[in-house]
Amino acid sequence: MHFYSEFTIFNLLIPVYSNERKPQALSAGQDMKVSKRKKEHVEIALKKDVRFRNKTSGFEAFDFIHCAVPEMRFEDVDTGVEFLGKSLSFPFMITAMTGGYTGARAINRALAEVCREEHLALGIGSQRQIMENGDHLDTFRIARETAPGAVIIGNIGAAQLAQSRDREAFQRMADLIGADAVAVHLNPLQELLQREGNRDFRGVLKGIGWLVKILKIPVIAKEIGCGISEKAARLLLDEGVVYIDVAGAGGTSWAAIESFRNGKSGHAAAFRDWGIPTAVCLETVSRIPQARIIASGGIENGITIAKALAMGAELTGAAFPILKAHADADPGKLAGLVGDWREQLKMVLFLTGCRNTDELRRSRPLMRIHPPDCRPESSGEPR
Ligand code: FNR
Repeated sequence: MHFYSEFTIFNLLIPVYSNERKPQALSAGQDMKVSKRKKEHVEIALKKDVRFRNKTSGFEAFDFIHCAVPEMRFEDVDTGVEFLGKSLSFPFMITAMTGGYTGARAINRALAEVCREEHLALGIGSQRQIMENGDHLDTFRIARETAPGAVIIGNIGAAQLAQSRDREAFQRMADLIGADAVAVHLNPLQELLQREGNRDFRGVLKGIGWLVKILKIPVIAKEIGCGISEKAARLLLDEGVVYIDVAGAGGTSWAAIESFRNGKSGHAAAFRDWGIPTAVCLETVSRIPQARIIASGGIENGITIAKALAMGAELTGAAFPILKAHADADPGKLAGLVGDWREQLKMVLFLTGCRNTDELRRSRPLMRIHPPDCRPESSGEPR
């Protein structure tokens, strides 16, 4: 049926393994550059239009098979799930965004407050700096301090992992935030587009396998908006990762963000629409029986959450829409947004005759309504 075949992202990942590699500590100058970059990412995402331009997440190609006879009370529909041994009010996490510069502390605190109150999971941004020199520790630790009982997920880049086997540093990184799991972000396109990017992805798979062995908590592999193919997912699962967060195309385009950082130079604008739409990731990765999938990239309401679950995801996640709601002048906006998404999911469950998300995942009441042309309906309106 397919409009996208296997991509060759993982041709970039040529494993080379060494026990000896130690992390390269960041100099004060490098550290300032990393902090500046992290601040710019948040500011650009909020000020500019960083969506994919000619591609969507693909969810619009599917619709639910409406059930005219639900035979249940709406109040009895249960959106709750267990994730990493803790209860969530619905299967949703705020995916990794920030940490590592002064303003990040307030953002992570606000996100953690919402996760504590609404019973959601929270991913924090890349912890590279604290792993390497302990700087900006408080901007990450605030998440656990604010939400002691929440599911909190640490984060590290694949390229850093490939270049280091410092067991203590990785354990410290996880302990610092009392992490329930650690996400390894796979971002080969972003690294290629950043002037300061790391272009050596050798050893990433072995590095992930090593991390799986040394940590006592599960490892999640995630993209950042270009998607994870079936082939890539199989390679990652072979290394022992527990969850695959497909983080597909259709939401935030990292090439768009980097194009604003690089001005007109570089190739970022040409790669703005690069990636596998999230719905396509789900259709393909869910063919792997043992895959436990997190669906993110272009999740924008409770209906897309429900579609992702019906397509095989256990959990869903979003980054930019959450950041945007947090940045709104109205302090209740973020809690209101996630409350609306939970209610919309509950309505979909009712309207498809499912009492809970397990039933939705098992019965998959979806129909394909048109082949996706993967173009957004509106053109160029800033979100
Ligand atoms: C991100 N994302 C991200 N991912 C990651 O693994 N580590 C990180 O440090 C960051 N940083 C980050 C900053 C900002 C400002 C944004 C918007 C996003 C990627 C994020 O977790 C997610 O995978 C993508 O943004 C796709 O999801 P959305 O934005 O389409 O919901």
